[in-house]
Amino acid sequence: MADIIQLLPDVIANQIAAGEVIQRPASVVKELLENAVDAGGTNIQLIVKEAGKLLVQVVDDGCGMSETDARMSFERHATSKIKEAKDLFAIRTMGFRGEALASVASVAQVEMRTRRAIDELGTRIVIEGSELKTQEPCQSTVGTNIAVRNLFFNVPARRNFLRSNTVEMRHINDEFQRVALAHPSISFIFRHNNTEVYRLPSGNLRQRIVNLFGAATNKKLVPVNEDTELVRILGYIGKPEYAKKTRGEQYFLSIADLSKAGGCSTLWLGRLRIYCLKTAIHLSLFLLTLTLPVLILTCIRPSKKSSLMTIK
Ligand SMILES: Nc1ncnc2c1ncn2[C@@H]1O[C@H](COP(=O)(O)OP(=O)(O)OP(=O)(O)O)[C@@H](O)[C@H]1O
Ligand SMILES: [Mg+2]
Repeated sequence: MADIIQLLPDVIANQIAAGEVIQRPASVVKELLENAVDAGGTNIQLIVKEAGKLLVQVVDDGCGMSETDARMSFERHATSKIKEAKDLFAIRTMGFRGEALASVASVAQVEMRTRRAIDELGTRIVIEGSELKTQEPCQSTVGTNIAVRNLFFNVPARRNFLRSNTVEMRHINDEFQRVALAHPSISFIFRHNNTEVYRLPSGNLRQRIVNLFGAATNKKLVPVNEDTELVRILGYIGKPEYAKKTRGEQYFLSIADLSKAGGCSTLWLGRLRIYCLKTAIHLSLFLLTLTLPVLILTCIRPSKKSSLMTIK
């Protein structure tokens, strides 16, 4: 009998990978915002049309990319963030799989303009369904402007599974809030269908929480700053009188500075449930940064939304 196993073409492999990484417009928002933060952007804009089904665009003033890197960034397993397996244990950024842009470009129409400060001209790239349509020099400000149009245009079954604009916007809002909350020093603007949803100036964490969740949040906040031998917890928690019966409030967790002393960058943004057993209420929790001791080994799942922790 003839051999029957064959390697899948890249386009199909990318689409399969995209199934893991890109589930809905909010996944695109998450990946693009994380890249903009990793690029050192200090002003980041998110522009969304039709709850991201028509357009998700992120504009940053970060480091930009060279012509070759711009093209490479859409290849699978292409990343500037790790070089060897051991780098995985010292990640200081929100990207490490080198899979996000390749996945996005396999299921959408993508246009990117990018320029580094040292380059006179930028690069414009258009990719649709993993197929390079255009790559040319262009006028561009320093940083990266990436527009993702018509998500799942080539995978109708997945497009049909997208929910109403209200539901998809809720997911997008959620992702935006998580990234904005974790980076109060970065200024963010978020527009949906030409209406401004958020304009967040650079500030401290309390100001960011209040700008995101409304002035009334201010009086709910209790600062938490616990530094014990075992663990360091930093952030704000809601007063018990504002706690809810349901898990309605926002819960954020970031694990920083896993084992290395020094630089304390946000590595992972996930959700944490803090449940007060005695009173059966859910306390609000606004960005707790947890600095874990060396003896705890953390394994971040590729989705970067959850992690496993074990004692070494
Ligand atoms: N906005 C940006 N500004 C500058 N460089 C970028 C930007 N977005 C992507 N890149 C470059 O493209 C590379 C690929 O990005 P991509 O998001 O696909 O992978 P990653 O961020 O390395 O890992 P992950 O798949 O976990 O997100 C990045 O490593 C980075 O070098
Ligand atoms: Mg990334």
